[in-house]
Amino acid sequence: MVSERTSIAVVGTGWWSSMTHVPTLAENGRVEKLILVDRSREAGEAVARRYKVPLERVYTSLGEARAAHPDLTGAVVAVPHHAHVPVAKEAIELGLHLLIEKPLTIYARDARDIVEAADQKGLKVLMGYTFPYLDPVVAARRRIDDGLIGEIEYINCNMTSMTVEFYRGNPGAYNDVFNYPVQGPDKNTYSDPAVSGGGQAHLQITHLAAMMLHLAPGLRGEVVTAFMNKLDTRVDVVDAIALRLSNGAVATMGSSGNIAPGDRGSVEVHLHGSRGR
Ligand SMILES: NC(=O)c1ccc[n+]([C@@H]2O[C@H](COP(=O)([O-])OP(=O)(O)OC[C@H]3O[C@@H](n4cnc5c(N)ncnc54)[C@H](O)[C@@H]3O)[C@@H](O)[C@H]2O)c1
Repeated sequence: MVSERTSIAVVGTGWWSSMTHVPTLAENGRVEKLILVDRSREAGEAVARRYKVPLERVYTSLGEARAAHPDLTGAVVAVPHHAHVPVAKEAIELGLHLLIEKPLTIYARDARDIVEAADQKGLKVLMGYTFPYLDPVVAARRRIDDGLIGEIEYINCNMTSMTVEFYRGNPGAYNDVFNYPVQGPDKNTYSDPAVSGGGQAHLQITHLAAMMLHLAPGLRGEVVTAFMNKLDTRVDVVDAIALRLSNGAVATMGSSGNIAPGDRGSVEVHLHGSRGR
């Protein structure tokens, strides 16, 4: 375990980092200095005030922050999807370990570039998937590793979540549910395909796929086919995906973002193997 204290930058001080990364890092005794970077100084300062980060630790570019704090060792990338690649590449150039929010990138080729660039510099890249760390998922993985269900033959999983208003560019519809600590996401972050890359698949099926692949260690998708409906938005809201996995197993993943505000939704992964399920 690393015991020394370290200095971390959070790049992108929007909804998600102001609800999760910033408060968590601000309270973590192993963080020497928390640096906030946002291209909008106003957004950075609002979050700094909320969590009592000194205003002189707010920057509008990562390069500027690194120059002022040579002891910086890592960065959390929590900017909209289309900005993940330039921000991550800059951070790698600056020699920083990374936690990159999901989806890592919009295109797989960019993800490979990032992993390769980080490897070349001996830097670590962690992705913002939270489900594999939950106790029931850790316990399930342990039993699967112990051979409880044998060789995986069939997986079906689904996730429903309250996201459709994000895709409509109307995040204010969830004010009462999320109680955004500073402010909600920008209206374009999840509704404009040029910014987000897509809708429910990029936002939620990435979580589901991460959990499915975590629970099916070593397996990868080899053939994938999908159907989607955008409803009244410009991105996918309802998706159905079928896959053939690398050991010949088959899997289905389904997801809808069109559930009512306040509905907690559902996440299910069912694994069926040669010895049971
Ligand atoms: N892990 C999860 O469960 C989870 C949940 C929600 C969001 N997220 C992810 O978090 C990320 C951020 O989402 P959000 O909802 O907070 O977005 P947001 O719209 O609330 O905030 C984005 C912030 O990034 C800033 N920004 C944009 N481009 C920048 C750049 N090049 N450099 C510096 N700052 C820049 C904007 O000014 C804004 O303050 C996304 O990747 C999203 O998918 C993850």
